[in-house]
Amino acid sequence: MRKVRTGVLLSGSGSNLQALIDACRAPEFPAEISCVISNKETAYGLTRAEQAGIPAVFVSHKGKSREEFAAEIDDILTRYTIDMVCLAGFMRILSADFFTKWDNRMLNIHPALLPKFGGEGMYGHHVHEAVIAAGETESGASVHVVTAGCDEGPVVLQEKCPVLPEDTPDTLAARVLTIEHQLYPRALQEYVLRNSFLWKFI
Ligand code: GRF
Repeated sequence: MRKVRTGVLLSGSGSNLQALIDACRAPEFPAEISCVISNKETAYGLTRAEQAGIPAVFVSHKGKSREEFAAEIDDILTRYTIDMVCLAGFMRILSADFFTKWDNRMLNIHPALLPKFGGEGMYGHHVHEAVIAAGETESGASVHVVTAGCDEGPVVLQEKCPVLPEDTPDTLAARVLTIEHQLYPRALQEYVLRNSFLWKFI
């Protein structure tokens, strides 16, 4: 069985990338990480990729239109014969053409229980601040299919955790991140197997 060649797009630390790399080491895992692309040259995610022997590519978004930037990323994904894309802390919005091309073949992880606390501006600490301000007693993480609407695509898997009365955005973020690390590999595996018609070689 050939594994689904997965490209990861990120902008930061890449702890979710690391969780995916580690899960992909299992021989029976149906996907492999075949390239990592960052729009931030100093993103630690690029170092993680290099340490794992995975091609790591920096693509600056600066001075480029959304379309030009997305087309450049698409060229790299094509060069590495990528089947599937995982966004893991990628802080740019891609182009309409890109969404169409990767329709049903792109996942994202979001640090809240979508459809709540999603959409433009809901990233990083903003999410956890909003969850606490709303008085929620539970939060969690969601892996969803990426569509043109920000954080609006169908949810693949979610997992919950409590919001404690003494939580700050930082303590809540740390609890949610722990969940993300086991959720993303599980969601990728399930999605790949559930949609095996997309990958004729499985
Ligand atoms: C995660 O919280 C993820 O939900 C969000 O961006 C963060 C990325 O963290 N989309 P890391 O770079 O994987 O550590």
